[in-house]
Amino acid sequence: MKIFVYNYRKFDEAEYFQKFSEEYGVELGICTDEPTLENAHLAEGYEYVTIITSKIDRELMKKFHELGVRMISTRTVGYDHVDIAAAKEFGIHVSNVSYSPECVADYTVMLMLMSIRKMKRIMQRGALNDFSLPGIQGKELPNLTVGVLGTGRIGQAVIRDLSGFRCKIYAYDKYENKAVKEHAQYADLDTIYKECDLITLHMPLLEDNFHLIGKEAISRMKEGVVIVNTARGGLIDTKALIGGIESGKVGAAGLDVIEDEFGMYYHDRKSDVLSKRDLYILRGFPNVVVTPHMAFYTDQAVSDMVKHSIESCLLRAEGKEDPWEVV
Ligand code: COI
Repeated sequence: MKIFVYNYRKFDEAEYFQKFSEEYGVELGICTDEPTLENAHLAEGYEYVTIITSKIDRELMKKFHELGVRMISTRTVGYDHVDIAAAKEFGIHVSNVSYSPECVADYTVMLMLMSIRKMKRIMQRGALNDFSLPGIQGKELPNLTVGVLGTGRIGQAVIRDLSGFRCKIYAYDKYENKAVKEHAQYADLDTIYKECDLITLHMPLLEDNFHLIGKEAISRMKEGVVIVNTARGGLIDTKALIGGIESGKVGAAGLDVIEDEFGMYYHDRKSDVLSKRDLYILRGFPNVVVTPHMAFYTDQAVSDMVKHSIESCLLRAEGKEDPWEVV
């Protein structure tokens, strides 16, 4: 069986691709770039393609279909970068992967703590030998009420972690989960906005939750609310968030994701002029920590991403049930 790998990263994925392709007897084709109309021909002769977060729009999907690709597996949990309607139209199967949810959960808790302990200011001041106290008094997690929006694998892991901090936890999801109820109480969004000092997002980005956190939602939140997002940038209306921070309604934010980040992160762009004004504005606030979509990035997660993507293609090839099937 043959799989064509786009976005292949030599410095971290290579060892896992070697290990799991040998283990499963899979032949790999490799391209370090993201798939485009120009390099799609490289996948000719491969029925299975694996990608990361590069956009697969209708045109590219059509091209892959013409080249004989039967399945695209994204080595990510989220698949909002893949045009699923086009995949259905051209009969291409799509799958995602799962990986240790702890990688994102740990990082989320780190952003929460950094936000409530004003770590950005502490570090900025420390670098200038300003060791003064005014303005950096923090809050303690056990004294806070936290709202977790989305209780899939990652939301559940965040709730498990948070239970150790003994804070009050509210959870929101369309589908309630029994394990969550051991540590958290399900509530509607209204209650969460009204009651929570800290709100963290763990939902996939779908049409019906695009800009879930907008001007109106923020206006219903507590004064000084802390918002953490390690899920998808599109869940938050960035302009509304900036307004909330400027007015003081939002006391702090920890953002590992931002709208319109595709194509920007995971590249060295320090010498480029980026037209990402909102990113610059957010980064300029002393109470906002912005990181470049790194919450997933651990050794365990990278190994899981590669392994599960190969396994997903194999299951499809063998006509077996694929737990990662999207369409
Ligand atoms: C995902 O797996 O969905 C992520 O957010 C991480 C990915 C961008 C590498």
